[in-house]
Amino acid sequence: MAFQQRVFSGVQPTGNLHLGNYLGAIVKFVALQQSHDCIYCVVDMHAITVWQDPVELPRATREVTAAFLACGIDPKKHIIFNQSQVAEHAELAWVFNCVARVGWLNRMTQFKEKAGKDRENASVGLYVYPNLMAADILVYRATHVPVGEDQKQHLELSRDIAQKFNNDFSASIAARGFGDAFFPQPEPLIQGPATRVMSLRDGTKKMSKSDPSDYSRINLTDDADAIAQKVRKAKTDPDALPSEAKGLEDRPEAENLVGIYAALKEVPAADVLGEFGGAQFSTFKSALVDLAVAKLGPIGAETKRLMGDPAYIDSVLADGSNRAREIAAQTMSAVKDIIGFIRH
Ligand code: TYM
Repeated sequence: MAFQQRVFSGVQPTGNLHLGNYLGAIVKFVALQQSHDCIYCVVDMHAITVWQDPVELPRATREVTAAFLACGIDPKKHIIFNQSQVAEHAELAWVFNCVARVGWLNRMTQFKEKAGKDRENASVGLYVYPNLMAADILVYRATHVPVGEDQKQHLELSRDIAQKFNNDFSASIAARGFGDAFFPQPEPLIQGPATRVMSLRDGTKKMSKSDPSDYSRINLTDDADAIAQKVRKAKTDPDALPSEAKGLEDRPEAENLVGIYAALKEVPAADVLGEFGGAQFSTFKSALVDLAVAKLGPIGAETKRLMGDPAYIDSVLADGSNRAREIAAQTMSAVKDIIGFIRH
């Protein structure tokens, strides 16, 4: 069965948005607006899988929304909303808790990383987080999901859940005129030179909101001075830049900075090496500072300006939630019929 093409993705309102979120996900959110109907969600229900300060959570939710807007997502043509306002996410997640298998969740590497050694003490929500993520996507029967590399395994699980639901209820799905599949197989969109942006302090670790060192990441709200300082202090090796990709092997910090430059400039990494091959890092870092400030400076300034108008941000979220709810409610009604829940 052919599904209407639709894009869905989400970002957690926890800590600062950084260059990894921007290059790995948000840049793609912006580009996909040209070709698809898009739904972009601030996933506040995912955020509370680890404790969040009730004063900080609304600020962070508004900041992600402001950053979406500042990056150029159009909230009228597309949908921007916060997850907790559309109850169908939680409702479908429960159904998926009953479809997904314990063995599937036990394989999720992100749970193992986040729960750490004290797994017994992790929230149950953190464990079933990937089922909620599948519900986020499939409650809109979305077909395409732009994400960074770290979400690949969760997307594979979403596909497995969609498939098992379609199989488990195949007769009921067909009887209701949905053909042989009610849910599409959502396709991850993980492309380009910056699908996994690494820490500026350690090229083997992912750039992350939770790294205690602020020097490990460039935040979307960093000013020009902060960006310059962080890039200049970024870890490198003593050699000059190579002129071909092969020369980046076993040089994770060099590879990361070249990838960041390429993604910001929207050119292939090979072009960057063509330009800077043989140059010292001092020269390359100066060019990277100029490029990063030119690209990120206006976004940071606009995010801050929008944060001064929380009523406007809340109106965007309210409008988006209403429109999202209409689509989600249709899916959920059909799911209830398919499963055999009596609707009144
Ligand atoms: P989150 O909030 O951790 O990250 C948001 C997006 O940024 C990407 N990303 C990165 N990309 C490249 N390099 C990095 N260092 C880097 N760090 C983060 C992430 O891959 C993600 O695309 N579980 C998701 C949120 C979510 C979601 C969904 C995504 C909830 N429901 C449904 C897609 C569809 C998360 O925690 O992303």
